Amino acid sequence: MAILVTGGLGFIGSHTVIELLSSGYEVVIADNLSNSEISVLDKLKKLSNKTIAFYEIDVTDKDKLELIFLNHEIDGIIHFAGYKAVGESVVNPLSYYYNNLMSTISLAELASKYDVESFVFSSSATVYGDNVSPFKEDMPLLERTNPYGETKAMSERILSDYSKTEPTKKITLLRYFNPIGAHESGLIGEVPKGIPNNLMPYITQVASGKREKLFIFGNDYDTPDGTGVRDYIHVVDLARGHVAALKKAKQGINIYNLGTGIGVSVLELIHTFIEVNQVDIPYEIVERRPGDIAVSYADTSKAERELGFKTVKTVEDMVRDAWRFEKNLIK
Ligand code: UFG
Repeated sequence: MAILVTGGLGFIGSHTVIELLSSGYEVVIADNLSNSEISVLDKLKKLSNKTIAFYEIDVTDKDKLELIFLNHEIDGIIHFAGYKAVGESVVNPLSYYYNNLMSTISLAELASKYDVESFVFSSSATVYGDNVSPFKEDMPLLERTNPYGETKAMSERILSDYSKTEPTKKITLLRYFNPIGAHESGLIGEVPKGIPNNLMPYITQVASGKREKLFIFGNDYDTPDGTGVRDYIHVVDLARGHVAALKKAKQGINIYNLGTGIGVSVLELIHTFIEVNQVDIPYEIVERRPGDIAVSYADTSKAERELGFKTVKTVEDMVRDAWRFEKNLIK
């Protein structure tokens, strides 16, 4: 069973490749290296001790993408490739819409042409907008505050409409909460280009001395300590969620949250990091970041019931593994 993993050298993609290989799937990666490094491929081979077919292509380039379907018997697609920086999407909306939508459309067209049974799409909790947590899959989605979020909601819509035309295909939309952490080996993890947008990579860069201090975006939210609350999920748990989604995929369109169901505040995450890793994280409270919501965490019952998926890693595991990876980067 060969699974095409687009964006397979990226943060979530690379961890998913490891879980797929250890579950016995054959993996073909398509990645244009726009936000990943080719060195990750060797690390994946080393960690898995398996062969991995790799194509350096842009997933919006349908002609090149088609070569993969001609060369391999593809049974499933997991589509991670995409631009993902919220702030950048406000500055470059057209490139976000072009890249994130064209890739989804091209893949769906090829999935149809080559009769690929399963399609798993990387969606995001951002599609819920400022709903009341816990977010549940059947909630009406509220307005997104940036083009990035809109591309996720639109891709969901495109795949839902596609599903109506090919109802025997198994299409799964996975709504991720906040993936952090790294592989236990310390070999693969998150390597943001430039100044990190997200909390965890910023924390690890402050811990390593690459950045002077962390800026906490607001402490006047309606939350227990005033800072934003999120559902952080260990990237290895998230990767396992993809294998569960593939194994249990059902015909039609099926949507699942992948989170822990537990809300953790910015200050709680920082203090856990300090305690577990015994390093200092200087911080300063600044203004709220535009577009942020106060609280976001998942209702995990559907994924548990239908996929048999439950996270096993704790916040302590997440901060320990994230720091181990960052220390390896600076060695
Ligand atoms: N935060 C800080 N300082 C920072 C970075 C973040 O205080 O330097 C705070 C944010 O205000 C928020 C929390 O840390 O309260 C988490 O922020 P992240 O940027 O790590 O994550 P978000 O929840 O904003 O965004 C994530 C993904 C998006 C996705 C969104 C909603 O990065 O891709 O979840 O699902 F759209």
